[in-house]
Amino acid sequence: MQPPSDDSPRLYAELASWWPLLSSPADYAEEAAFFRQVLNDACHPPPRTLLELGSGGGNNASHLKAHFQMTLVDCSAGMLEVSRGLNPECEHLLGDMRTIRLGRTFDAVFIHDAIMYMTTQDDLRHVMETAHAHCRPGGVSLFAPDHIRETFTPGTDHGGHDAGGRGLRYLEWTHDPDPNDTTYTVDFALLLRELDGGVRIEQDRHVFGLFGRDTWLRLLRDVGFDPMLMRDLFERDLFVAARRA
Ligand SMILES: C[S@@+](CC[C@H](N)C(=O)[O-])C[C@H]1O[C@@H](n2cnc3c(N)ncnc32)[C@H](O)[C@@H]1O
Repeated sequence: MQPPSDDSPRLYAELASWWPLLSSPADYAEEAAFFRQVLNDACHPPPRTLLELGSGGGNNASHLKAHFQMTLVDCSAGMLEVSRGLNPECEHLLGDMRTIRLGRTFDAVFIHDAIMYMTTQDDLRHVMETAHAHCRPGGVSLFAPDHIRETFTPGTDHGGHDAGGRGLRYLEWTHDPDPNDTTYTVDFALLLRELDGGVRIEQDRHVFGLFGRDTWLRLLRDVGFDPMLMRDLFERDLFVAARRA
């Protein structure tokens, strides 16, 4: 397992308080409604308790918490602080999704884009093991990667928001320096406007994992799930993994 390194994203460390200006909760409404429907359709009776691994600033949770009793796990204290501000009614826990063991199970487990930070098959399998360990028999785990090997496309994106007197604008550049390995790179250029009106520029590099559909399905079966492949609203592959009753 890769230890935490000094080149972990600055966005989740000293820049964490800027997260809601990069990615605002409102942007997640449609996607969260879709994930909720998938979880309800896949689990009988519909889930009541939901564990989210790599919950970040809690943007998905801000929509899902009205429907599920949520426990949120992230390895960044700064991101948990942002999420606590947005979702005070949720339980927040600091931990690594590859290793955390809470000693209890949930009706469903959800892992959104945070799964992209798993850059080796071993790490991906460890997260699946964590999901399995926390999913009750008959429950379901939902994995929603941004890309898998077959759907990856390089590209650029931009955006940002203003709030509380501060502002952020970003340019995001997604590229794959080596198509033969299991990673790709997302570079961010961030323009940060502080309360005093001063603007600074920061750069941040994120390294994401990329695995083929067959690898995903094989690893999910290996750890004890019955996986099913779905397409989401944005034509992305979703893995809905049932834990046998
Ligand atoms: C893009 S953010 C997640 C945003 C989230 N989807 C939301 O709704 O706000 C990715 C998060 O994954 C977390 N993360 C990355 N690796 C992790 C790990 N091994 N264990 C737990 N959290 C991790 C980061 O700290 C970061 O907060």
